[in-house]
Amino acid sequence: MSGGNNSPRNPKNRPSGQNGQPNPKRPNGKRPEPKTPRAVIVIYAIMAVLILGICGAVFAITLKKTGDTNTSQTSSAVSSESGSTSGNTSISTGESSDNVSEPVNSENTSSEGASSGEPAQSENGNSEVTPPVSSDKLSVMGANMVYVGEGFSYSCTVTGSVSKEPEIVWECVGDSGKITEGGRFTATKKGEVTLIAKDTANNLTAKMLVHVVNSASEVDFVPMVNNVPIVNKTYALPADYAPGGLTAETDAAFKKLVNGAAADGINIYMISGYRSYAKQEKTYLGWCNTYGQKEADRISARPGFSEHQLGMAIDVNSLEETFENTAEGKWLAAHCWEYGFIIRYPKGKEELTGYSYEPWHIRYLGKELAKDVYDSGLTLEEYFGIDSSYR
Ligand code: DAL
Ligand code: ZN
Repeated sequence: MSGGNNSPRNPKNRPSGQNGQPNPKRPNGKRPEPKTPRAVIVIYAIMAVLILGICGAVFAITLKKTGDTNTSQTSSAVSSESGSTSGNTSISTGESSDNVSEPVNSENTSSEGASSGEPAQSENGNSEVTPPVSSDKLSVMGANMVYVGEGFSYSCTVTGSVSKEPEIVWECVGDSGKITEGGRFTATKKGEVTLIAKDTANNLTAKMLVHVVNSASEVDFVPMVNNVPIVNKTYALPADYAPGGLTAETDAAFKKLVNGAAADGINIYMISGYRSYAKQEKTYLGWCNTYGQKEADRISARPGFSEHQLGMAIDVNSLEETFENTAEGKWLAAHCWEYGFIIRYPKGKEELTGYSYEPWHIRYLGKELAKDVYDSGLTLEEYFGIDSSYR
């Protein structure tokens, strides 16, 4: 803003004696006592302000540097503790502990939700500082469902860091089965048991509720293996499980995939996402009518056994096996893991997955787990040590 006519910046309005205006004469005509000229005082004042300012700035920088150092020392202390077992440590037959949140009711239009494991973002897009890990966590890994007369080998994973090599003691609470010292659970009758793992070396405890069922029709929960929702010919969903659309995370991740593909000049689009139990029944019966049940079981899930009902699977572009040879099919196979998806039914793995090759069917797992599974070259069944067969 510039000064107007009444502004002190206008020389006409300055009081006399200031800024080089002549001083009025002293009444007694005497020379005044010698004293420090005003200009010198002003210079001293400016210098003092400058020195104070510089000192303040140096102090502020020092404080900031001290803060930075403390932060990095804290995180390095957490991650490099001498002799510790750190990170997500799998014990005995433990698998990856990637968590994919349980499906939620959501419409396909939702765009919220980042892939599991992504750091929280502040409003300006910077990652927020993660507080140091203050406690270690032990988790039981394995299936939350076992058929009567069958078994499952459970293991433990430590998140964080522990100072001693874990020593796990297993306990089974409930009379629907029993567990061995090594974590092998055998289901004996319908019901529920709580498996308890105690790490006596580090004083940590973990539990898992396991449902023992006679058949898939008794399932009234979402089957999980290593805390990941799993649906195949072994692990079924309840008929009334109806999230109504893709999970928010799946939906958001697919939008990113479509955009990523577009940036590479590739057009990926959804032809089938969420399918209700009723819709799957219709689809499956349609294939049965066309090809007979034996062939239908190779290409379509029975109602209750489809990942599409889970809201975490999507069919894209074309239901022809030749899709694998198209630019879109090749892009999908090479890049879908970057967005948290895997090609769920790979070529030549029908004995393991229960289904013939589907280059168009992708399953959302979250970025971390999808990368792990992709890098392993294994089917999800092999990766988790599970089977896929109707009982
Ligand atoms: N085509 C897959 C297996 C499904 O029906 O879910
Ligand atoms: Zn599909």
